Amino acid sequence: MHSATAKSQRSRGVIERYREFLPISASTPIVSLDEGNTPLIYCPQLSERVGRGCEVFVKNEGANPTGSFKDRGMTIAVSKALERGAKAIICASTGNTSASASAYAARAGIACVVILPAGKIAMGKLLQAFAYGAKIVAIDGNFDDALRIVRELGESGDFIIVNSINPARIAGQKTAAFETVDEMGDAPDFHLLPVGNAGNITAYWAGYREYQAQKRSTKLPVMLGFQAAGAAPIFHDRIIEKPETIASAMRIGNPASWKQARAAISESNGAIDVVSDEEIVAAQSCLARHEGIFVEPASAAAIAGLFKCCDSHEAVYSFQKIPEASRIVCTVTGHGLKDPDAILQRMEELKPVAATVNDVRCAIGL
Ligand code: F0G
Repeated sequence: MHSATAKSQRSRGVIERYREFLPISASTPIVSLDEGNTPLIYCPQLSERVGRGCEVFVKNEGANPTGSFKDRGMTIAVSKALERGAKAIICASTGNTSASASAYAARAGIACVVILPAGKIAMGKLLQAFAYGAKIVAIDGNFDDALRIVRELGESGDFIIVNSINPARIAGQKTAAFETVDEMGDAPDFHLLPVGNAGNITAYWAGYREYQAQKRSTKLPVMLGFQAAGAAPIFHDRIIEKPETIASAMRIGNPASWKQARAAISESNGAIDVVSDEEIVAAQSCLARHEGIFVEPASAAAIAGLFKCCDSHEAVYSFQKIPEASRIVCTVTGHGLKDPDAILQRMEELKPVAATVNDVRCAIGL
């Protein structure tokens, strides 16, 4: 067989891998960019920080086609939209959903409208939506306002909503839990996640439960969610009118999957906690410099959360007494290049030196 043919016939993406668990039929047209199958990386430095023989793994969702976990749900949502004959999809977004929706709509040959809070989207994500050819509308309002508008526009029947209020999105995102179990041989003991609109923690919990029910795992993890301190409605148990955080992906005051996230946390005997912007930035830098994994600030909230569980007396869930040799997974949700602003601010200005070996050796200074 010609190799190009072999390649084109190879099964790829989360639908091909987990079709039996997904709302896909033989007649659903598959829109995929080979998402999923992301690295689960053992992290020696993080493991040492926890101590007592515990092992920490990072599920690097930045390795998805548009650089975030959203692609897992978008392949299902856009495939189902196409099956229903949709001509256009729509979403509200803090950036990553819009990048992913734009890419999958481009692939499907349908229109994509993205409604964004003006001035609050990380540059890399905005560039992606533009590059993939989405119709971008910026509003004078926050994500919660954008989602309210999208819900109303969705009712008109002109657009299919591809936010995580669309069950196809949650169905796709639960494949990250399947992959984790498949790779580890069982569910981990703890799973740490950043929480914004709360779709992802809902999806992971659904995935872990479904896999256990199918006897593919013997246990369920304790789910630990982390919100940014200035955007922590679930933690405070009230709507935050003006959410603020450097982790712009999680700048959300009224999460759509609030109740489901609460259920995941209580059913798994887990917890929801907060991390400050300073802790987020420090964790982002630590993960890049000590493990070689560069993630966007919202993703670093899971790592900041891990540190809080290890070190802080104020942690809602302490790791001081967890069983020895526990296995801990932290999901990092998006690639660091999407949101370079926080790092740019801390970068020193590069002053050129003369183009000689001596000057360069001097400048290296080691
Ligand atoms: N991390 C990143 C990088 C995100 O983009 C998001 C959400 C989250 C974490 C939180 O996940 O909402 O499922 O609890 N981003 C959405 C968006 C809101 O529009 O891109 P969640």
